[in-house]
Amino acid sequence: MDWSKLQSIHHKFIELYNSNPIAVRSPGRINLIGEHTDYNQGFVLPAAIDREITLCIGLNQSASCNLFSWDLQEHHSFKMDKLVPSQRNWANYIIGVVQQLQLHGHEVTGFDCVFGGDIPIGAGLSSSAALECGMAFGLSNLLGLNLSKIEIARLSQAAENDFVGMQCGLMDQYANMFGKEGKLIQLDCRTETHEEIAVDLKEYGLWLFNTNVKHQLDDSEYNVRRRECEAGVKLIRRKFHQVSSLRDCELSMLTNIEDTTLKNRCQFVIEENARVVEGSKDLQCGDLQGFGQKMYLSHHGLSKMYQVSCPELDLLVEYTRDEPSILGARMMGGGFGGCTINLIDQENVESINSKYSAAYFHATGKRMSIYPVNIANGTSLTALNLN
Ligand code: GLA
Repeated sequence: MDWSKLQSIHHKFIELYNSNPIAVRSPGRINLIGEHTDYNQGFVLPAAIDREITLCIGLNQSASCNLFSWDLQEHHSFKMDKLVPSQRNWANYIIGVVQQLQLHGHEVTGFDCVFGGDIPIGAGLSSSAALECGMAFGLSNLLGLNLSKIEIARLSQAAENDFVGMQCGLMDQYANMFGKEGKLIQLDCRTETHEEIAVDLKEYGLWLFNTNVKHQLDDSEYNVRRRECEAGVKLIRRKFHQVSSLRDCELSMLTNIEDTTLKNRCQFVIEENARVVEGSKDLQCGDLQGFGQKMYLSHHGLSKMYQVSCPELDLLVEYTRDEPSILGARMMGGGFGGCTINLIDQENVESINSKYSAAYFHATGKRMSIYPVNIANGTSLTALNLN
């Protein structure tokens, strides 16, 4: 995030609360491949990125919490002994974290916070996980709780599951906490451990194309997909008792499922898990073409079998299919809007951008935004300097 914005957030904190805060930078994430596999105990391949939220936080010796969102210019206050959902959606990620800390037996005293950032909201880059983890990390620091990275990731996921009501897996919070500059995180969601993967993309780079749409279905349909996978596992277990999640399944086990929708959901997850393992090998041995093909297969499955894409995402992926300088493209994150992730020959980004922007506007009446991605470190404290 640029220095002047960080300064503005810091100044606002002093203006509102007249004290000195700590500052936490908390990044968004990308995911190269492995979508909707995390809550099925499978594999994912995310990374933290150089778009982030900065939170200035300080204890205030009271029993209240005061929040200010710099980007929305909105306030929200609540009492520590009265945690109820707010009309301001963004505040619920923070209240949910406070609730989880309390449920874990920590005494959370009053605090003030001003935060803002450059992670586009609703773009599938996990600004919500950045807010949760950044807050949990900051409070752990101020209250001397010494929470580990995995504790912060799990607690933040629980805040989103229980307080916000989105039954997300662990990928976003994990990538936010464990991200490492220049490295992908190959996360095994069963063991909750990861390997860092170094990649050399040669003359190619990762670019996000933002559809700038966010269809309303997202959270409810996400929870439906999760339940469908659980229903599939139940049916498979009738014959294969050793199975506890789709991670344990092979395609041949799906014969027990008659319902085509359910079968498609399970087939997608089984195939997507295999793509993460194979795709990670492709990247490590420099087979970028092979990886790009898997991105297209992933998108096809997400769109046709898992049905979490939307016309705008499909269109942006479709444009790239005959483009020699794009090796792979797919929708990224939960779906129903947000961004596609693209592996592009850096030299041609500019011409691709102008061509697709015009075509996308012509087809949808909407603007497409495009961002380069650099892989960054996970959540950390950051220095403040009032000059
Ligand atoms: C959202 C969720 C993640 C994950 C992705 C889909 O980002 O928060 O847990 O399930 O969707 O891969």
